[in-house]
Amino acid sequence: MTYARITGTGGCLPEKILTNHDLEKMVETTDEWIQERTGIKKRHVAGPEETTCDLAERAARRAMEMAGRGSADIDLIIVATTTPDRVFPSTACLLQKRLEIHGCAAFDVQAVCTGFVYALGVADRFIRTGGAKCALVVGAETLSRIVDWTDRTTCVLFGDGAGAVVLEASEEQGILSTHLHADGRFDNLLHVPKGVSTAYSEVLAGEAYIEMKGNEVFKVAVNTLGRIVDETLEYNDIDQAEIDWLIPHQANIRIIQATARKLKMPMDRVVVTVGEHGNTSAASIPLALDVAVRDGRVRPGDLLMMEAFGGGFTWGSALLRF
Ligand code: COA
Repeated sequence: MTYARITGTGGCLPEKILTNHDLEKMVETTDEWIQERTGIKKRHVAGPEETTCDLAERAARRAMEMAGRGSADIDLIIVATTTPDRVFPSTACLLQKRLEIHGCAAFDVQAVCTGFVYALGVADRFIRTGGAKCALVVGAETLSRIVDWTDRTTCVLFGDGAGAVVLEASEEQGILSTHLHADGRFDNLLHVPKGVSTAYSEVLAGEAYIEMKGNEVFKVAVNTLGRIVDETLEYNDIDQAEIDWLIPHQANIRIIQATARKLKMPMDRVVVTVGEHGNTSAASIPLALDVAVRDGRVRPGDLLMMEAFGGGFTWGSALLRF
């Protein structure tokens, strides 16, 4: 049986850091409020010339270096992003050019904060069915570009960054299952209400911002993530005690704690980066994975549960042997 196995991880955060104290000078908020409600202490923000593809490229190169793979080995590129460099070509095509890879399929996936899990699910299906042998799967965002920096209910939450994995065909166990879902009826609870075909001039003017009914999103997220971890455990017929690490989407420490409680996992088995990164949307899970791989927490053979929830609503999970 062919599995898709992660053989390399990489991450990239922009140099510029915005702390809660910096935000206190921009909107009516406090470090105490932000930390208590979200767990976030700081976030990284891209420079004016720095793009999603710049961050994606750095993360991808690091993942390829860890995997010992060069450009000639990559036969599929998927980039999960909600903040692409251009309307088109896709960020995946721009990344393909930067890495001097030519000819393989390259496309973006747009599932907001669930984007990386969606991209991983798609790449897994390519590899299992023989359509690819060595895929680059990236989550990359410059969310700071669609944040209204005068809106205290959203601007304290988000950050920029990129994470990447190399996913290879293997006879050894890798991804065991992915579970992808969406329900478009919740579009208005978390969205950028303007887009290319509805309000192009406002998009061009940089006036298309994230809007969110935070409280309602919070409740649906906690319930939905509880259900998706049950679905994943049942599908694989495994007990929650077998999971070595929970690597959740990093939106809010209270949402992460609720899912950990549901899985009866102590917080020292949960990879948490939200305090340092904020919510980097599609980048948050691969960034968290990369941190935990490089600091030696996640080790070969560990059983990992990834789960995410985002605008759409979209939600999903992946169970994998690292
Ligand atoms: N600083 C200080 N006060 C703030 C604030 C800020 N940055 N943002 C909102 N407030 C105020 C509100 O105006 C409100 O004041 P009021 O009671 O006078 O009206 C009060 O704090 C409580 O607001 P509320 O929205 O009920 O707070 P909350 O406990 O729900 O926390 C979030 C707000 C956004 C942190 C929380 O709802 C959340 O995390 N939601 C999920 C968001 C998310 O993860 N989205 C992405 C999913 S991928």
